[in-house]
Amino acid sequence: MTHALRAPGKLRLGVNIDHVATVRNARGSAWPDPLRAALLAETAGADGITAHLREDRRHIRDGDIDALMAGISIPLNFECAATAEMQALALRLKPHAVCLVPEKREERTTEGGLDVAGDVPRLTDYLAPLRDAGCRVSMFISHDPRQIEASARIGAAVVELHTGLYSDLLAEGHAELADRELAALRKGAELAASLGLEVHAGHGLTYDNVEPIAAIPELVELNIGHFLIGEAIFRGLGPAIEEMRRRMDMARGLA
Ligand code: PXP
Repeated sequence: MTHALRAPGKLRLGVNIDHVATVRNARGSAWPDPLRAALLAETAGADGITAHLREDRRHIRDGDIDALMAGISIPLNFECAATAEMQALALRLKPHAVCLVPEKREERTTEGGLDVAGDVPRLTDYLAPLRDAGCRVSMFISHDPRQIEASARIGAAVVELHTGLYSDLLAEGHAELADRELAALRKGAELAASLGLEVHAGHGLTYDNVEPIAAIPELVELNIGHFLIGEAIFRGLGPAIEEMRRRMDMARGLA
């Protein structure tokens, strides 16, 4: 596996392929194949692949994670809840990154950030073996300073800031509130970087809302899934990813 980071200034794009599996599972068939999507994403310039193995296996399944580990040559960001089952799996597979997310069975998607501040002793113990195994452990959190500080305290390497509220506010036409949320994300990214954390962001990002997020200088990676997989219906997956890449580069003055 090559894990070369891009030159400073250029954001990494992690493509989340969960919803390729959603479409596959709708018919209980073998296609579309998430690995094939991941390989296409790699060719189109993705810097990493993200896959969320949920407790209920509603999209990605265990076999998909094995196939991705064996088949892709860019880093895998393995997203999961902080359970014993997922820790054992991560320790067996040793993906490049493990992103811990909150998970509720009844939710449609990951709704909020992880409550790291409320679970410090357990998460400290949970993280240690993953870190020892060489995984970069990431906390999917809100921009709340308490959550950012707690993530640094438990020894996480990375925080991924939840952009879902920002995306929803913009989509619902609440431009002022979205601006306020964007400002809070900026401050959060600044605080996280000042504490030595690598800062990522994701959730709900689209062509229309990605640029202000991509322009936050402390960010080094965005993880984007649902929109890209949907857009692939119209443009094809490669062109959909290339356009996202272009917008991210534009926001950084690189295109
Ligand atoms: N980052 C994390 C931690 C997520 O849980 C998700 C959704 O699975 C994403 C990024 C991607 O969000 P979206 O599918 O809305 O682009």
